[in-house]
Amino acid sequence: MTSLKLKLLSVVAKAFAGAIGVARAVSCRAKDAVDHVWQKPAPTDRRSPCPMVNALANHGYLPRDGKGVSLARLITAFKDAINLAPAATLLVGFKSLQASTTRNPLTFNLDDLSKHGVIEHDGSLSRNDIHLGDNHSFAPEVWAAVAAHFADDDVISIETAARARKARLAAAPKMNPAFSITDEQLGFSSIETSLYLLVFGHGTEGDARTEWVRTLFEKERLPFDEGFKRPDKPLKVVDVLDLQKKVEEAA
Ligand code: HEM
Repeated sequence: MTSLKLKLLSVVAKAFAGAIGVARAVSCRAKDAVDHVWQKPAPTDRRSPCPMVNALANHGYLPRDGKGVSLARLITAFKDAINLAPAATLLVGFKSLQASTTRNPLTFNLDDLSKHGVIEHDGSLSRNDIHLGDNHSFAPEVWAAVAAHFADDDVISIETAARARKARLAAAPKMNPAFSITDEQLGFSSIETSLYLLVFGHGTEGDARTEWVRTLFEKERLPFDEGFKRPDKPLKVVDVLDLQKKVEEAA
């Protein structure tokens, strides 16, 4: 990503953050906070191919029905749940509206994110490719092959995460004759790995707690019960990009 793009992203993110601040001043903070107990989604609730977005909906940081999410709501949810800085949320999130089916160009439903080629791509760590039928549900056999790289280690290093991703990207075309992935999608894929390392690891050094990462993927739940705490300091876009570079270089 160029520095100009990064600056633009920061400006947009700050504008959103400002709007959220105003909204918060007039709304009741206690009401917003409701309660963030994890709940299994109802069959009619919309969910996405992203384990983190789904976890935020399952905890009520995003609408539990998965409908009508604005970028401002997305930013607030990520800030409240895991202290992700607005620009870092928009790094992937800015494309969400391109998949919108809500008839309101400013909102999207979580299942809109399954639209192939917007953010969703082939070679996911825990989902099958669209050509195989279902590109959004957790696929235990896909994930098992990825998670085998974590072995019994307590933490996932940058090298291990990079190896797991590389192996999955090498295995996917063997299962899917129609496999394809663009450079932009490869970028999303490495950002996705860097995001889980950042949220559950030590800054930009990796070493994400394996149990926490597995809880996110396998249960679509934030691992509070396993000891995870919302980071005190915001997780910044520069840290995501730093880790992304390390993931790409390690592979
Ligand atoms: C810290 C924040 C986030 C984390 C830790 C995270 C984590 C992940 C991970 C690990 C994947 C890969 C799943 C897989 O390959 O099986 C993924 C996929 C995805 N994420 Fe997120 N995500 C975050 C934020 C976002 C945001 C803000 C959006 C947009 C609203 C988003 C949308 C997606 C989509 C559409 C995919 C599917 C890509 C694919 O595998 O085809 N994510 N996310």
